[in-house]
Amino acid sequence: MKKILSLILIVAMLLGIACLAGCSAKKEETTESTQEVTKEAAGIDYLVVVNKLHKLPEDWEQKLQITKMNNSLGDDVEVETKAYEAYLKLKEALAKEGVNIDLDSARRSIAAQEDIVKRFTEKYGEDYVKKYVAVPGYSEHHTGLALDLYLNIDGKDVYLNEDMVKYPEIWEKIHQKLADYGFILRYLKGKEHVTGYSYEPWHIRYIDDADAAKEITAKGIAFEEYLGLVKTTDVAYDYGQSKLYKKAQIEECMDLVKCKFAEWEGCELLALRYAGDEKNAREKVERLKSLNKKEPDQYTAVMVLETDFRTGEKISDTLTLEPGKDYTDYQWILACDKDGSWELVEAGYK
Ligand code: DAL
Ligand code: ZN
Repeated sequence: MKKILSLILIVAMLLGIACLAGCSAKKEETTESTQEVTKEAAGIDYLVVVNKLHKLPEDWEQKLQITKMNNSLGDDVEVETKAYEAYLKLKEALAKEGVNIDLDSARRSIAAQEDIVKRFTEKYGEDYVKKYVAVPGYSEHHTGLALDLYLNIDGKDVYLNEDMVKYPEIWEKIHQKLADYGFILRYLKGKEHVTGYSYEPWHIRYIDDADAAKEITAKGIAFEEYLGLVKTTDVAYDYGQSKLYKKAQIEECMDLVKCKFAEWEGCELLALRYAGDEKNAREKVERLKSLNKKEPDQYTAVMVLETDFRTGEKISDTLTLEPGKDYTDYQWILACDKDGSWELVEAGYK
């Protein structure tokens, strides 16, 4: 009997050991797959730059881990997983202050970006698209790290660009909190010549580093400037004293020039000014004639702006400029069509 009992005990012990070994093997498996996940996530360069000059890196999609969510409008939204976790914390902190945000769009495929270009061109026109929408392949949204927010005010969703800009105080509250959660505001007012885009209060970017985000925010610089891709320069703006154009029109044209200038790789904008009524009146007569040759009355006005800029030691091959040189009084011609929308017709010539 004793023998049988000790046999049972030995069998039980062996079984126990086998089970323990099995469990720990399973645990190891889990740890291993968790490590794989972490490694993959760490494989993403959270400081990646995707802008008018830098495409989405080729291998990005393989490394990207996304979380899917559904917003209050019923749309599916995909976000890089770590960025989404940080977003949820930001959302919670803001809700405590009575500010309610949701996600309009985050990770976008090339096809989705193509669709936006098409829809926005139909709705707002080509020049709006140049200032606000990236060419497919060059959108930061492809990374999954760029998030477009929208607001919920008094129980109502506010998601159209033209409506969202009406709430600067709410955006201010949101922007103040971004860096705590590793986000930055990507398209700043006054940095259009660096980022290539007009001010977008809704477009935030996750960089996974609260300290870096705090430094960028405190310095008021663009991400490109923080990374040393572009020099941080104070641009001298001069709107002049025009009797021909309102300041808002001059500002609109300056934005178009700045968004285009950001494509001049290696160039640093130093000054941007209205070329004066005399030059503008002259161009208005001469240019309008040639611009309206193909289609009479297509354009109603012409504006001349001037820039001073400096080329870097290394500049884009596409530019017919000398490297390491200061250029002054370069002219940019803009034309206003019969719908009142301005477009850039000639970029930087002497
Ligand atoms: N609105 C930003 C620039 C994009 O389309 O990626
Ligand atoms: Zn965006």
